[in-house]
Amino acid sequence: MVRSEGARQIGDAAGAAPEGAARPAPRHVAIIMDGNGRWAASRGLPRFEGHRRGVEAVRRAVRSAITLGIHYLTIYSFSSENWRRPPSEISELMGLLKLFVRSDLADLHANNVRVRVIGDRADLSGDIAGLLDEAEARTRANTGLTLVVAFNYGGRQEILRAVRRIAAAVAEGRLRPEDIDLPTITEALDTAGIPDPDLVIRTSGEHRLSNFLTWQTAYAEYVIEPGFWPDFDHAAFLAALDEYHRRDRRFGGLSAGAG
Ligand code: IPE
Ligand code: IPE
Ligand code: MG
Repeated sequence: MVRSEGARQIGDAAGAAPEGAARPAPRHVAIIMDGNGRWAASRGLPRFEGHRRGVEAVRRAVRSAITLGIHYLTIYSFSSENWRRPPSEISELMGLLKLFVRSDLADLHANNVRVRVIGDRADLSGDIAGLLDEAEARTRANTGLTLVVAFNYGGRQEILRAVRRIAAAVAEGRLRPEDIDLPTITEALDTAGIPDPDLVIRTSGEHRLSNFLTWQTAYAEYVIEPGFWPDFDHAAFLAALDEYHRRDRRFGGLSAGAG
């Protein structure tokens, strides 16, 4: 395995790694939690049961991320396009989010987890938006894992909101077009202050991004896990990290030692 030292300069993937200490953990892991419905269907269960078990897999993933010394864990929980699902499934997913925040927030807080929520909160019902605000406010000062919850999130919609903010700054004379640079855009996104993901894991074998972190994943490594999300466990997390460590991240440059 050749690991580019140059990777550190851009990806700065240098989390502490209590487990497998020789290799630094990726700093930011983002997960497309896919396959809840198929997990349930393969057992003759209603889709809801897959989503319910999916929440348990979220709890496991958070514990794993803490153990592995990962600094940022982003979970794709509800996409801007998931509104296309039947109203009954949408209300089940909203219900599960509420349940998760109500039942797990105290535990996350006790584990020093800082919660950040990305996505469009304007379209959400007041009780859900309120719970998401509360999760962020209560854990804001925590210094452990940052759990980024992508809820009602779409990468293109996020970029659109950023463009509107930047355009407003230009229209108001606070910003000149020639002064817009890459950091201007990065800082106008919902993920302002969060480093780009080093690794994106997608479960259930699908090879697509589905509008997840469109801007931020320009140089992420992708690992596709064949299993469904409710079966994702610590061993699967370790296997994904193993695969990540076999990659040679060049960021457009050359491998360390090449040339
Ligand atoms: C992921 O599982 C959960 C969400 C998208 C909310 P799915 O519900 O997409 O499950 P599949 O892909 O239909 O199996
Ligand atoms: C992506 O999964 C969204 C989430 C995991 C929340 P989907 O199941 O919605 O994506 P597609 O429809 O297969 O692209
Ligand atoms: Mg799916």
